[in-house]
Amino acid sequence: MATCWLLASLLLLASAAESVVTGRPAGCQARCGDVDIPYPFGIGPKCSRGEGFEIACNTRNGNGDLVPTLAAAANGSIHVQSLSVEQVPEVKVMLPVAYKCYDSGDNVTKRFYGEVDLNNNGVFRISDSRNMFVVIGCNTLSYTQNGNSGGSNSHYSGLFYTGCVSYCNDSRSAQDGRCAGVGCCHVDISPGLTDNVVSFGPWTRGFQVDFSPCDYSFLVDKNEYEFRSADLKMDLNRTMPVWLDWAIRDSITCPPLEVQEKKPPGYACVSDNSECVNSTNGPGYYCKCKQGYEGNPYDKDHGCIDINECTVSNKTKYPCYGHCNNIPGDYECHCRVGYQSSGEGPKKQECSSKFPLAARLALGICLGFSFLIVAVLITLMMHQKRKMNEYFKKNGGSVLQKVDNVKIFSKDELKKITKNNSDVLGQGGFGKVFKGTLEDNTTVAVKTSIEVNEARKDDFTNEVIIQSQMMHNNIIKLLGCCLEVDVPMLVYEFAAKGNLQDILHGDANIPLPLGLRLDIAIESAEGLRYMHSSTSRTIRHGDVKPANILLTDKFIPKISDFGTSKLLTVDKDFTMFVVGSMGYIDPVFHKTGHLTQKSDVYSFGVVLLELICRKPTIYGENCSLIIEFQNAYDQENSGRIMFDKEIANEEDILILEQIGRLALECLKEKVEERPDMKEVAERLVVLRRSRKCGQGNYSPSPQHYEEISIEGSPKHFGAGNTASSSATHSAPATPLS
Ligand SMILES: *[C@@H]1O[C@H](CO)[C@@H](O)[C@H](O)[C@H]1NC(C)=O
Ligand SMILES: *[C@@H]1O[C@H](CO)[C@@H](O)[C@H](O)[C@H]1NC(C)=O
Ligand SMILES: *[C@@H]1O[C@H](CO)[C@@H](O)[C@H](O)[C@H]1NC(C)=O
Ligand SMILES: *[C@@H]1O[C@H](CO)[C@@H](O)[C@H](O)[C@H]1NC(C)=O
Ligand SMILES: *[C@@H]1O[C@H](CO)[C@@H](O)[C@H](O)[C@H]1NC(C)=O
Ligand SMILES: *[C@@H]1O[C@H](CO)[C@@H](O)[C@H](O)[C@H]1NC(C)=O
Repeated sequence: MATCWLLASLLLLASAAESVVTGRPAGCQARCGDVDIPYPFGIGPKCSRGEGFEIACNTRNGNGDLVPTLAAAANGSIHVQSLSVEQVPEVKVMLPVAYKCYDSGDNVTKRFYGEVDLNNNGVFRISDSRNMFVVIGCNTLSYTQNGNSGGSNSHYSGLFYTGCVSYCNDSRSAQDGRCAGVGCCHVDISPGLTDNVVSFGPWTRGFQVDFSPCDYSFLVDKNEYEFRSADLKMDLNRTMPVWLDWAIRDSITCPPLEVQEKKPPGYACVSDNSECVNSTNGPGYYCKCKQGYEGNPYDKDHGCIDINECTVSNKTKYPCYGHCNNIPGDYECHCRVGYQSSGEGPKKQECSSKFPLAARLALGICLGFSFLIVAVLITLMMHQKRKMNEYFKKNGGSVLQKVDNVKIFSKDELKKITKNNSDVLGQGGFGKVFKGTLEDNTTVAVKTSIEVNEARKDDFTNEVIIQSQMMHNNIIKLLGCCLEVDVPMLVYEFAAKGNLQDILHGDANIPLPLGLRLDIAIESAEGLRYMHSSTSRTIRHGDVKPANILLTDKFIPKISDFGTSKLLTVDKDFTMFVVGSMGYIDPVFHKTGHLTQKSDVYSFGVVLLELICRKPTIYGENCSLIIEFQNAYDQENSGRIMFDKEIANEEDILILEQIGRLALECLKEKVEERPDMKEVAERLVVLRRSRKCGQGNYSPSPQHYEEISIEGSPKHFGAGNTASSSATHSAPATPLS
């Protein structure tokens, strides 16, 4: 069947058209007069689907306006009133009235039998559903006949006959508006008619000629004709509106679905989303858009498009009582959240709330509160962020950001590094010191700095910058800082063995051979010397003491805690905010407030004494290490009684005496008589070398002391002095003028 259809259509096409037209070709007229001419109809031979669909546009009506006519029927005399292709395939035309007129002698004067001949093979059929057959006259029978019986064995020439009888007693008996046998009668017609050839009955008419000169019969739109008794004398040129059904009559019915899908050449329903419908009047089929689409199904490119049901202004057409959502070919309708519709769905019924009023109120209140809480949280977070930014600025962040080797940590990063401050190394002079681990597993010490205010901002940033530039093996390295907190946090390299103060004077009493002590002294001196020799600025530590000399796991000393308040730039020799440590402060500085590099030398002298005597600066019952040692030298020209018994063996005694003397030189009252750090370091190196030569079997490498156990040592400190081991006090100093 499908193959047959395909074959037939192909053959038809091969003979009919070289090129397949699937829509109105460009340049074709779309209107004639005030009638739209949609494809497959068209004006001119190339603009329509083919013969039968061609419309002529060269006739004018009485007003001189152009009217379209059916080009192929009745010599182009049939006027077209309207054409529709989208919903129902219909054409409204004007057809002439058939008549037969008599004189008083019963002789026929004029006749016309109404033939239109729409052609059996043509596209049109007279619509049986919309038209009726009307007979007007006062003693008449008229019937219409159609169809060719097609054989001599048939008694009648047509296949179809229908008509009615109209009679009137006199001129007054016919009534307006009534077409029921008196002056007028009408009948329905059957489908399939292609013509309207009428016959009039053979009855005597002459006696009525004065009020009914002719018999009339015609096809007319059921809704458009109402009988008037005046029509018994009708204008013979009168035409009546008649509906014609049209279809694609290339085949008897729609092609099978599988053929439809292939859209073979000649198949008319070319638009996507179009479908085929069997013709209800005559053979063939027509096309329409699928449900939910509208447009011209015969036009491939400008055919059926989705109807947006939600925006159609006629709400009764696509009702929705909820939220409308257009989808291809259809639309969805949902009730709002919290609403539902019973049974029929929101397309048919109003939605009602799922919850009772109380529940809705409760929900509203809950939502309101949640919103409030979120708003408060957001405000707090923004406040926090603003505060962090303020701190950052206050702490000199904008300057420090540009310094290369100081990493600026965010508050969150720092929290991660110190595991939320969980591992406290110690309590420093300013605050706590925490142990932390960087991402690369480096252990670090995180220390609270001093509070930075506007006046001291420059000092602080300068200090951090200077400290970051201190690249020496014996100076604790500043790795970064965090400025987003009120008091900035500084991140330092970690010194595992804690500070020299605890090692020397702590409870653990770790054995410390002289070689190791010398190494510590020399390397600490090297660190200070490096600091003092810094080219760009003249830098002083200001708080040299064992608590500020940290030791790594290999006992390598690292000078620390010089950054926070004691660094002064060249052009600023005086400070109002010096924190020194009792027992180590240069008395000259104490008196003048003039901090010099020699002040550090003084303090280092104290450290030297502590190293060889292993006594704190104040020991026993108010004994001052400095005074006692000085006394020993003044009285016996030897520090022998003061030296730590652990190292005061005979072969080293001379070395110890030399160190003692060096320390006393550092402690000289007169600043200019003290050696500088360079000299101190060099002299200590010489002493170490002479000791090595004397013994021959001693290696000074600090690596040898790794195995020295400090188990039982109370605590290790990463950076900074400790409250337990240092008595600090503020020493407001007066600048010299
Ligand atoms: C059409 O025209 C031809 C010749 O011009 C004529 O013989 C024929 O009767 C006409 N038909 C109609 C329906 O007017
Ligand atoms: C009617 O026709 C007949 C013959 O055809 C004629 O004899 C008669 O006179 C005509 N009548 C009138 C009124 O013309
Ligand atoms: C028919 O007409 C005649 C005379 O005009 C009248 O007498 C008669 O009643 C009419 N019959 C009907 C049924 O109207
Ligand atoms: C009817 O039409 C014909 C030709 O088309 C014309 O000669 C005639 O006058 C018309 N009659 C009326 C009453 O309009
Ligand atoms: C058209 O008619 C044919 C024959 O009666 C039938 O098989 C087919 O299903 C019909 N197609 C449609 C779309 O109604
Ligand atoms: C709206 O659509 C409905 C259903 O299709 C129809 O009956 C009604 O006449 C339309 N109303 C208007 C104003 O178009």
